[in-house]
Formats: sequence, structure tokens, C-alpha cells
Amino acid sequence: MRVRPALALALAPLALTALSVGPGVAVPAAVAAESPCPWVGSTAPSAERAAKLLAAMTLDDKIQMVHGTAAPLAPYGPVQAGQVAANGRLCIPALTATDGPAGIGNAATGVTQLPAPIALWATWDRDLARRYGAVIGEEARGKGANLALGPGIDIARDPRAGRHFEDLGEDPELVSELAVAETHGIQSQGVLATAKHLAAYTQETSRNTDAGDARVDERTLQELYLAPYEKLVAAGVDSVMCSYNKVNGVHACNDTYTMTQVLKGQMGFRGFTVSDWFGMHASVASANAGLDLQMPDACYYDTRLRTALAEKRVAPQRLDGMVTRIVTPMFERGVFDRPATGTPGARVTTTANAQVGRDVAAAGTVLLKNDGLLPLDPATTRSIAVIGSAAGRNALGSGGGSAHVIADRITTPLQALSAEAARTGASFTSYTGALPSVAADKARGADVAVVVVSKLMTESKDEWDLQLSLTDRLVLEAVTRANPNTVVVLDTGAPVDVSPARGAKALLSAWYPGQDYGTVLADLLYGRRNPSGRLPVTFPASQAQLPAAARDRFPGGDHAEGLAVGYRWYAQQGLTPAFAFGSGLSYTTFSYSDLVVGAEQADGSFPVSLTVRNTGSRAGSTVPQLYADQPAGVAATPRALKDFAKIELAPGGSRRVTLTVTARDLSHWDTSQDRWVRAAGDHALWVGDSSRDLPLRGTAHVAATTATSAATPPAPAGSTAGNETAGESVKDAFVCGAGGFMAGGVGLASYFGLPAQQQAVVAPTDTTSTTATGTQVP
Ligand code: BGC
Repeated sequence: MRVRPALALALAPLALTALSVGPGVAVPAAVAAESPCPWVGSTAPSAERAAKLLAAMTLDDKIQMVHGTAAPLAPYGPVQAGQVAANGRLCIPALTATDGPAGIGNAATGVTQLPAPIALWATWDRDLARRYGAVIGEEARGKGANLALGPGIDIARDPRAGRHFEDLGEDPELVSELAVAETHGIQSQGVLATAKHLAAYTQETSRNTDAGDARVDERTLQELYLAPYEKLVAAGVDSVMCSYNKVNGVHACNDTYTMTQVLKGQMGFRGFTVSDWFGMHASVASANAGLDLQMPDACYYDTRLRTALAEKRVAPQRLDGMVTRIVTPMFERGVFDRPATGTPGARVTTTANAQVGRDVAAAGTVLLKNDGLLPLDPATTRSIAVIGSAAGRNALGSGGGSAHVIADRITTPLQALSAEAARTGASFTSYTGALPSVAADKARGADVAVVVVSKLMTESKDEWDLQLSLTDRLVLEAVTRANPNTVVVLDTGAPVDVSPARGAKALLSAWYPGQDYGTVLADLLYGRRNPSGRLPVTFPASQAQLPAAARDRFPGGDHAEGLAVGYRWYAQQGLTPAFAFGSGLSYTTFSYSDLVVGAEQADGSFPVSLTVRNTGSRAGSTVPQLYADQPAGVAATPRALKDFAKIELAPGGSRRVTLTVTARDLSHWDTSQDRWVRAAGDHALWVGDSSRDLPLRGTAHVAATTATSAATPPAPAGSTAGNETAGESVKDAFVCGAGGFMAGGVGLASYFGLPAQQQAVVAPTDTTSTTATGTQVP
């Protein structure tokens, strides 16, 4: 699609290119030590250092600290996502933000293109999540940034949502456990992490406009969409980004309930909230609702905020609170104390970081079906045909939008599998064109056909349906008819309708697997790595099965399915999906046995142990999953995931594994008390290796009903429901005309989408490996 220049300008910051920002002022340690800035290099607690700094700040200093430096229509350049200016007089370094959740974005090069977050979540591996976060932190810092705009912790409510590949799955337990590990990884590198997007951000259509409204009941909001923030807050996440949608009629970036009452009150968040880019719609209301930092521009939080302070419509204490919340994590991550290093042009990818990407891609690829075809045996695989443009020039290592990452180069399936054929002396042929008859002819004579199909998903635009392209569907049907030994590989950001692949013997979901796509795929197909991914989302059997299938739900915004999102919906409705949440195959087999629910511990948790055994002949990993029911009497609570572990075992090996259900795990949100409550009674516990295969059963008996969280505090005195009056909104939109235009542009893009982005500096091609010497299949 060609984008008109004016619109292109308006849309650019949305995702693709980075914003031009003011120059950062580095504070070398030596200078800092001599400077009149006692908060620099101090060993005092961060809160004390922040208080000292605050006492030295003028109104101008404070105002400068609560907004970004970019003018909305400034020219764009490859310089991060945005910046809060440095303040040389007070030795405050610039706060420089970079996207995003899948590695360094903003059109940067020389970075590691990690697999998409959905692939990380499919690993169900906390340690890999920490390593993934550490790569992001390290590379952000190498690029001169100190604020990473991730992890994204939106719940994957519908596979048609444009940012589904950035989502971490359909279950809050899985999402929060891995996001905590990723956050620790990012923050271990001295970089602030940002959990996003608060709250109930489940679609792109109408985003950032008045029409984009998530209507969600309180219990669902708490148990599903807000719950991941609680663990992130407890883990010390530095910042939280508000979202483009409205929550029950109020723009998220001026919503008192989610930002102040829940996040800062109920959950005790000490860091700062930051607006999504051009996601603000108000100044006074945002400040009073709890939004601390405007990004990337200054319109609402410069002159407008000064006026509001002068008119006493925003209290000076509130401005102090905003600044304190921003500088405290900067002290905690050492941002004040180290010389600013790194530049946007630096090459930051390393061999070690690429290895993390490969490990995640391998562990996150889910083997959905295998009728004895995989792993391929080089002795019997004497000829191989690789089909599909996504095996070559259209290979997708990354999704689109602000989570897009540009690899140096992508090793394609075509290259890796042709090299494999050369290595094993097999003959090799390929076809990346669109004609089903030619694809079938190529596949027919081969011992094995591998078909790679793809679907590009991107921020800014939802998908209409779950279908693969017509070409991919026809090619799949033709090839699977022509060759019974067909492997289908999905290079997609979300579940798709896999019925055209029904004739295949093996099916894998590789998601967007990052820069070493082909290498990892060859390792998996030939069994050098054993698949261990488990689905973090349900694959529906048809679009009609989706919890939000009705248009008023998606993209209409009515979350009437309530808690019944993902596997909870299929259980509630008695539907059989194509592939269940938590499922995934291996080249070996496992057994689970001897479940014991231990006595309740002093903290109210129950240990749940079982024996896991590798009953096959290969080393491999499995993921025992623990689910719990509420006792009879707690209305409409579906069975839900509470804990899991990723266990690696040698053939024949076994291990006693202990999972835990905490008191909070057994709780539900009580709307009459505005808090979590653990109900007395028998809570059934289930363990198995997917949400639909739970052979082991136990019980946690809870003697008395108790509260397990603080109650949501009431809205602070004087705050409104969140929105400014109609008159004030009009005034804001007038004063922040450019910002308003940008916000409108963001909404507009949700209908038309944006052009596809570059996958790699050296674009993938249909060229096979130069080392391939195998003879061609006729
Ligand atoms: C996205 C954010 C992102 C920001 C900065 C917005 O379009 O919604 O997730 O961090 O841009 O690029």
C-alpha cells in the first residue's frame, strides 16, 4: 500500500521508524563525583536520593521530567523510540526508551532478532525468559537506551488480534510467571523494564479513538487482565504503560481505577506509569488519574499541566509524586551513577545473544501432530522437497509494528534444509511459487515434503479471519494429496485454521522464530533437538468456536465471555479445539504418577508433588501443569492453571517434581469486598500435560474463608470517573492539535494497516544454501 506523505508522517511513530529526540547529556562518573549533585554516586536508599533531588528541583525541572522531547511532527530518524531530556544542572541523565518486546526495534540494525514473545511463552521456561530479557536489556544499553518498552503482558483473547504474536498467551498465570523472569533479565542489565499495556488491550481496530472501548466486568478485569500486573509489581517492575483502548468508557491513560486504585493502591506499585505513544486524551484528568509520564511528546504535560497547577486543578504534591516515581527506578537501575555508554548506531548483537534466540526458537516450536514421520532419518530420507514462499523470500522471523526487529540476515528453511540434504547426501528440490499443480509435482517424487506457510501479523491492524492465504491453502491441499509424507510448518503469529493441512503427517507451529529460523527448524526436523514447546494459546477447530467470535465482542469490544477466555471457554462450552492450551508433542514419551498433595503450609500454600518419568528412548523435556477448581458455591469459576515446571529427563529417567498452589492461587475476586478471597471447602487439583489431559487428581482442603489481598482503595478525593468534561477535551484536542491528529492517525491505521516491514538487512531470498550439493529430484 502506498501511504500519502502527510499520513505517512502521522503514522510513522506508531511502529516503524523511531522518533527524532533531543541530544542526551552524558554524566561521566568523574564529573558527577565533583558535581553539586549529592544524589549521584550515593549509597543512600533510592527514596532518600530521590527526595534530595526533588528538593533541588524548580517547577521547570519537574515539568521537564514528566514528558518526552519529541515534537509530534518532527522529522524522524533512527534514534530510539523517545526520550525524556537530560538535565545537566541537576546531573539527571536522559531517560531513553527503545522498543520492544522481541529485541531492539525502532528500525535499528546490528541487533538480535529474537523469536516473537509468543514463541518465548510457548517454551514455558522461566530460565529462557530471563535469558531473553537479559539480551533485550544488554542490547538496549548498547544502543544507548535505558528504558526498554517491554515485556508486553496483554492476554491473548482472540487469535485475530494484530498484536497476538506480542502477547504471551491466554492465561494470566503463564503470562505473569514468564514476564517476571523476563523483567528480571531486562533489569539485571541496568535497564528499566515496562510492562504493557494497562489494561484489557485486546484489539487494534479503532485503537486510540473513542470507539475503541473494552467493556469488561470487574471480576474478569481483576482475574484475567489485571492479574499479571500484580506479580510484575511484586517483582519490582519499573514502569507500566497505559493502553490505547478505553476501559469501560474511560481512556486507559486517564483511568483512575486501573492506574491509581488498582495498580498503585491495591497492588502497591512504586514505579511510574507512562502513556502509550500519543495515547493521551487529557491533561488534568490524566495527571489526577495517575499517569506519571507523557511520551513521546510534551503537549499535555507541559503548558497545559503548568496551567492546571496554577489553577490548583492538579496539586503540587501530585507533580512531586510523578517525578519521584520516575527518578526512583532510575536510581535503582544505576542510571544516575554510570557514564552513559552506547549509541544508536552501535552493533550490539553477539554470538551469545544469537544462541539465546536459537534456544528459545527451538524450545518454543510446538510439535502439534506427528504420525511417525519425525524425526527424519537421514538413512531413509534420500530426497526432500521444500515448498512455499515462506521457506525462502517470505520467511518471517518477526511480526510487524513496534515489536518488529530487523535481523542482519535470516537463515531460511530453504537454506538450512538444502544444506541438510547436502550433508546427508539426499537429493533436494524446492518450489516457492504459487501454482498448486507445480508444488504437487515437485513434492510427489520426494521421500519427504516440507511445506512452510506464513501469515504476517502486525500492530495497528487486526486480521479478519483465521485463514491462511488462498495460495497457501491450495498449495497445502495439493502437496498433502501428492505426498503422504508431508511436514507442514506454520510461520504465523497466532493460531490459524489448520484444516487445509489435515492430510499432513506432521505439523509444527514455529511462530515467528527469529533470525536463525532455518537452522533451528533443521535441528528439530532431524532430531538434533527434541521439540518441547507447549501451546500458550488454544488452536480452535474453526473460527465459530472462538470465545469472541461474535462481532460485538471482536472487534466490537464487548468482553461478555467474561472469564471464559481461551481454554476456559472451550471447557465451559464443551467444545473440542484443534489443539489444546498446554499441549505439544515430543520425540519421546512421559508418564506422570503418584500425586501427593502435602499439608497446608504456614503461608497457606499447598505443595503438590508427582513423579515424572521419560518412558521413551530419547532425552526430552515435558511440562507438568497444575490446574485448580474453586469449591462448589463459588460461582462460574472455570478450572485454571496455577503452576507448571519444565523438566528435562534422560531416556528412562524420572524425577519427583513439586509444584505449588499458593493461597492467592486458590482465591477468586470477590466483587462485594473488592479483594481476593480464598473460599473454604475442597479445591480440586488436577495435574497433567495439557489443559485437556489431566489424569492426576488431588484436593486442597481449605478450612476457613479468608481475604488474600488488600482491597481496592476508593478513588482519591476529588477525582472524577477519569474523563475531563466535554469542553475540556475539546480544549485539549485544540491545544494538542498535532497530538490529537497523531492519535487519530493511530486509530485510522487500525482500519488500513501499514506497509510490511523489512525482515532483515540482507533480505531473505529463494536461494538454496551455497553449500548444497545434493542432486535434484527430477
Ligand atoms: C505501541 C507501544 C510502543 C510504542 C513506542 C506504540 O505504538 O503501542 O507498545 O512501545 O508505540 O513505539
